Amino acid sequence: MRVLVVGSGGREHALVWKFKQSKSCDKIFCAPGNGGIAQIAECIDIKADDIDGLLEFARKEKIDLTVIGPEIVLAAGIVDIFCENKLRIFGPNKAAAQLEASKVFSKELMAKYKVPTADFRVFDHPDAADKYIEKIGAPCVVKADGLASGKGVVVAKTVDEAKQAVDAMMREKIFGDSGNKIIVEECLEGQEASILVITDSKEVVALASAQDHKRIFDNDAGPNTGGMGAYSPASVVTAELFKEILDKIIYRTIDGLAKEGIEFRGVLYAGVMLTKDGPKALEFNVRFGDPETQAILPRLKSDLFEVMLATSEGKLSKIKSLDWDNRACVCVVCAAFGYPGDYTKNKEISGLDQVAKLDDVVVFHAGTKKSGNKILSSGGRVLGVTGIGETIKEAINKTYQAVGKISFEGMHYRKDIGRRAIEGS
Ligand code: AMP
Ligand code: GLY
Repeated sequence: MRVLVVGSGGREHALVWKFKQSKSCDKIFCAPGNGGIAQIAECIDIKADDIDGLLEFARKEKIDLTVIGPEIVLAAGIVDIFCENKLRIFGPNKAAAQLEASKVFSKELMAKYKVPTADFRVFDHPDAADKYIEKIGAPCVVKADGLASGKGVVVAKTVDEAKQAVDAMMREKIFGDSGNKIIVEECLEGQEASILVITDSKEVVALASAQDHKRIFDNDAGPNTGGMGAYSPASVVTAELFKEILDKIIYRTIDGLAKEGIEFRGVLYAGVMLTKDGPKALEFNVRFGDPETQAILPRLKSDLFEVMLATSEGKLSKIKSLDWDNRACVCVVCAAFGYPGDYTKNKEISGLDQVAKLDDVVVFHAGTKKSGNKILSSGGRVLGVTGIGETIKEAINKTYQAVGKISFEGMHYRKDIGRRAIEGS
């Protein structure tokens, strides 16, 4: 079969890498892809948000399944358009993608269907939001309703900080229309976990748990990023907790959507806070996580392509369950100088050949491009170095040994990815 993967990050490299192992995939394209993906698939020069261009390509090349990485195209309705054109595609339609594209939609759905989440209020006027913040005090969390490239959430330690966030989102409109409405919510405490499932709305198969590391510096200091590393499984998510998350968060949400007349087909990803009162949903994403995917897929033994094809046809019941490697997997992101602010580009990356010879290690490219025989950096998150080990400790050691062999000017990375799984704090 012929597959088109849409996107250009580490997540998409991991998907392409996994599809390469499928006996059903004869030809893999990626739009637009990156320097690493270009080594194992055919990259095509179509931007991830160019829906017309993607549609034309899928038609012309007789693509059997298109798989979407980023949320922005899902929110724009690419799935609806491909379905109208009788093309198979993996991902939720525009109505279901609201779960990520509108935090107000998502929180109101959670409230209606009793999905445990932080107490919240919705505001469409900044004065009312300010008044409410003064009433509840700090800490509290201020969230822009719409998509904001992962930057739309402010966990405010003081009332002033929360009001500044309201100001920026609603008066200065730093996220444009995404800040027309905002949410002010209770600040939750606990460890976070990422729980991803694949569903066709009737059946659900869960992927292994993972934990992301969102802050730029060790010990979760500094500003938020797209994710500086991840590991799987997330040892804090015991089998009992996993079941509770599926029952109270995942199934209630999918069933709630169905009751609203919305069928969800694709990956549903719940960001969950494990509080002392039980797991609570922080947010939903409607796509694979990045870098969680890089830490989850190397542990998956089943043929992911078959699962996604069945999902896109609404026939996930054909898949009984997924088969997992019990070993642990760790992904460490190597970032460019300056990231998550303005960062440097076009730096030559060395050491990739040496790392390619190592067992149980794979390097997923994110912001890279090929230039002749060289691989150059081209994004903020440049590489996701990923290692598998019998224990999380072994996986951490293998991964950091590999990271030590790679370099480019200004490269920086967190030194503590996965450490919490060992220390348990
Ligand atoms: P979100 O995009 O909603 O997942 O938020 C990004 C990050 O903000 C989450 O991963 C949490 O670390 C943090 N966050 C979001 N909502 C809350 C909350 N209610 N309490 C504490 N932290 C939160
Ligand atoms: N790792 C966070 C995300 O994919 O949104």
